[in-house]
Amino acid sequence: MAFFRKRALVTGVAGFVGSHLAERLLAEGLDVTGVDCFTDYYPIHIKQANLAPLLSRPGFTFEPLDLSQDPIEPVLEDVSYVFHQAGQPGVRASWGRTFQSYTAHNVDATQRLLEAAKGCGNLEKLVYASSSSVYGAAVELPMTERSLPRPLSPYGVTKLAAEHLCLLYHANFGLPVMCLRYFTVYGPRQRPDMAFNKFITALLEDRPITIYGDGEQTRDFTYVDDVVEANWRAALCPSAGEVCNIAGGSRSSVNAVLALLRDLTGSSSRIVYESRQDGDPEHTFADTSRARSLFDYQPLVAQEVGLRNEVEWRRQTLSRDLAGVV
Ligand code: UGA
Repeated sequence: MAFFRKRALVTGVAGFVGSHLAERLLAEGLDVTGVDCFTDYYPIHIKQANLAPLLSRPGFTFEPLDLSQDPIEPVLEDVSYVFHQAGQPGVRASWGRTFQSYTAHNVDATQRLLEAAKGCGNLEKLVYASSSSVYGAAVELPMTERSLPRPLSPYGVTKLAAEHLCLLYHANFGLPVMCLRYFTVYGPRQRPDMAFNKFITALLEDRPITIYGDGEQTRDFTYVDDVVEANWRAALCPSAGEVCNIAGGSRSSVNAVLALLRDLTGSSSRIVYESRQDGDPEHTFADTSRARSLFDYQPLVAQEVGLRNEVEWRRQTLSRDLAGVV
């Protein structure tokens, strides 16, 4: 009897979460098609470095593809699972003229992917990477999926719109979707515009650190391996048409994390306080009981371990940069 390997499509495979997820799916014995369109929101060489180790892995195929305009059907052939990680990220950068990139890469791209997936006979699950930013300045903490989402940033509006698109393709066509609202993901390969990567880089280079506001804002920071695990469990579970919070379970303030990072790096970089940024919610804190009951999700990586791993990764990439290795 021929051995049949299932295939997964990972969109945004050269990104932070997408690259980790593709590695995990290959380890689970799946064939993986990865797509990415290399937007220039952050330096492309970083995405190329995320992708490079995957390119030599048996079972992995890469296609450069822009979901907002290229034909999608060919990469969906024989696909059992779609993990839709692609998107235009960045809460604070989504104002003004750049908004068009958010509608193209978050809303249009998702609508085109769903439309193509509708005709895909093998599809067992499409997991959509949503965001805690759909909640906005929630009056009630912890945030539950029953709370009325009221995004505070244009980015959050586009992530919520795409979530609604997923749910309406489920309601109208029975497309087996699952939306996961990630809460501020960190770990090795974290995007360079995100807080921990910026802080660690500044600490290791002994440069000043910028904190927006007073640093007492809190986030339910989530380690990337926990997010990957959530995706895999969501793909395998029988439920569909659901929205689930995916968070790390150790809510902390920006100041508290910075203190830990100072200890881990032994650095005493100066802190510069700047004004709070438009679109930034004061607090995030997730109720993850729905993900626990639907697919037994629970975060496993302690914050100190996760931060240590990100510091170690950044140390290595900085020394490679210094040595001129890309
Ligand atoms: C992050 C991601 O960037 C979004 O793509 C994602 O959708 C979102 O999480 C989410 O969970 O929904 P954010 O929470 O703003 O957004 O994550 P960081 O960029 O790591 O910022 C965390 C906190 O640190 C924010 O309050 C931010 O204002 C602050 N910060 C960030 C600083 O004080 N200084 C900086 O240099 C950068």
